[in-house]
Amino acid sequence: MGAMKIRPAASVRGPVGVPGDKSISHRAAMIASLAEGRSRIEYFADSEDCASTLRCLSQLGVKVERDGDSVSIDGVGMTGFSQPTEPHDCGNSGTTMRLLAGILAAQPIKTKLTGDDSLRKRPMRRIIEPLTQMGAKIHAADGRAPLNIEGGPLRGIEYEMPVASAQLKSCLLLAGLNAEGETAVIERVRTRDHSERVLRSFGVEVEERPFRGGRRISVAGGQTLKSQVFTVPGDVSSAAFFVAAAAALPGSMITIENLGLNPTRAALLDLVRLFGARIEVSDTREVCGEPVVDVTVRGGPEALETAKNGRVEGSTVANLIDEIPILAVLGTQLRGGLEIRDASELRVKESDRIASVVENLRRMGATVEERPDGLRVETSILYGCEVDSFGDHRIAMAFAVAGLLAKGETTIKGADCAAVSFPNFFEMLDSVAVR
Ligand code: S3P
Repeated sequence: MGAMKIRPAASVRGPVGVPGDKSISHRAAMIASLAEGRSRIEYFADSEDCASTLRCLSQLGVKVERDGDSVSIDGVGMTGFSQPTEPHDCGNSGTTMRLLAGILAAQPIKTKLTGDDSLRKRPMRRIIEPLTQMGAKIHAADGRAPLNIEGGPLRGIEYEMPVASAQLKSCLLLAGLNAEGETAVIERVRTRDHSERVLRSFGVEVEERPFRGGRRISVAGGQTLKSQVFTVPGDVSSAAFFVAAAAALPGSMITIENLGLNPTRAALLDLVRLFGARIEVSDTREVCGEPVVDVTVRGGPEALETAKNGRVEGSTVANLIDEIPILAVLGTQLRGGLEIRDASELRVKESDRIASVVENLRRMGATVEERPDGLRVETSILYGCEVDSFGDHRIAMAFAVAGLLAKGETTIKGADCAAVSFPNFFEMLDSVAVR
């Protein structure tokens, strides 16, 4: 595919199907592999990142069978992985690398985790340091992948996270399953709690309590996990692109069924509602420990007119961290623009997302100021031009939506990276775009 051309749209209308949640799919697959017996995961994310996780598990001797949307995993128990013959290629997936490192640190095998150019640049010291405190032996030059892990016995620790990262929290909880005693993670800012929920679904006791103004989450080592039939909800981070498009284009109406609406991931929907879009959430139910809903979004710039002095900062940022690129695009349509702060973690995602967004918005004619920890975007008319994905799936998709809102045609270079989380994104966008 390479480059993708996007024409402006008058509105977006119709049903939107989003892939299964990527974060939850990774966790369900890894946790099922540690269980006793065969698990089936329904609606497993159709994404390159989650395929990386399945590939790594297969290399460790886990029998993985894919049948359409459904994946069967024969769990090998807590220490049943076999010695792989090749390094694990985690591709572009930070979640694969960081969570798997937690599991592998306690296995009696030697493994090497590597990934693509982007993943080999991302910070791994955040997991290496606490895992080393637990007794893990991990070698990595300069705190980056490849990670060479010599697995062995671990001991539980209590660890206060210096960054708000669900990947770090999950890495330590997964390591804690095989550690001696209790492993506790303290988070000042609440991050997505899918690991806690998936672990509970597989029969693990996860304790959680308020602690020093934050939360303390802990697991005891030596528990047995039970295989499950597990259903993954639709991915709210993939839905976000359509929600934003519907909010910004007059006369839009989209519906999304079976959408995961975990409170630690729902901040974008809350914000878009605050900006004036009409969002109806119906049939709230719980599926495999996760809240699931059907959603209708109606919008148009007349609704966004009411939004003034939009600001996103503080603890909200962790709950929409992956939605910030599309939020910045939406900011161009808000009266008063939008300021995003406290988001310096964006600099170490699949690309430096602050720099990527600023560069592309400027190319499209927007007035935007870069900040060390975010950006400020003014109300702007966008003009179609050539933008770059910077090899980052969420940048490719955010600027496809920008292309719908722009005057003239937009070309996105390197658009195929959208498949990292949403392989049929462009077809889906085209199916709802009314021109
Ligand atoms: C994820 C956590 C977030 C998020 C990433 C997925 C997860 O990363 O950006 O896309 O599945 O736990 P951090 O934990 O690094 O913030």
